[in-house]
Amino acid sequence: MTLQQTVPEPGALTIGTDGAIGGGTGGYDKRLGELRGVYIDDGAFEAAVAQQGEDGLAYRVEEHRNVEGPGALIVGTSTLLPGRVGEEFALTRGHLHAKSDRAELYYCLSGRGVMLLETISGQSRAIPMSPGEAVHVPGHWVHRSVNVGEEPFVSLFCYPADAGQDYALIAEAGGMAQLVVTDGDGGWTTRPNPRHVGYRSATS
Ligand code: NI
Repeated sequence: MTLQQTVPEPGALTIGTDGAIGGGTGGYDKRLGELRGVYIDDGAFEAAVAQQGEDGLAYRVEEHRNVEGPGALIVGTSTLLPGRVGEEFALTRGHLHAKSDRAELYYCLSGRGVMLLETISGQSRAIPMSPGEAVHVPGHWVHRSVNVGEEPFVSLFCYPADAGQDYALIAEAGGMAQLVVTDGDGGWTTRPNPRHVGYRSATS
């Protein structure tokens, strides 16, 4: 086998501020019904489902991945639609990387959002993101995107292909420790999640 046969083609991509990736390899849509139990206000969530349907789009991920395994990257975009469920702003499910030491870069392409970050030992950060702003997420931080604006919040992300996602960690903890909610004056703030019972240890 020659070296040439083992080396993948470079990805030549176009990445729109609307999250569209030309030359991507796939992605997925997350539907509102799949986020049941993620928001703190169950009544407001069911009202949103009644209005938008179980299949209402919550967020879309497009990505380019050409190699698996250690050393490879996954590059993609996340497009999170705006809105609120009760006082809580629209959010992604959030995760800790299954290989918890794996880092990630997020770069805001459009919209206005917050990256909510927490460690299993109880540290918390909420970093605002507008176009041109990025968050370099180190390993060992649970992370979630939140849309605090009125337009789709679109970010470019890049992370190691062997990172994986541990989604159960947040569910088992009763949600993330902090909620990103309206401040009642057109902005956002954080407040403790009364359902949060603390994180278990990372799986790896
Ligand atoms: Ni991640």
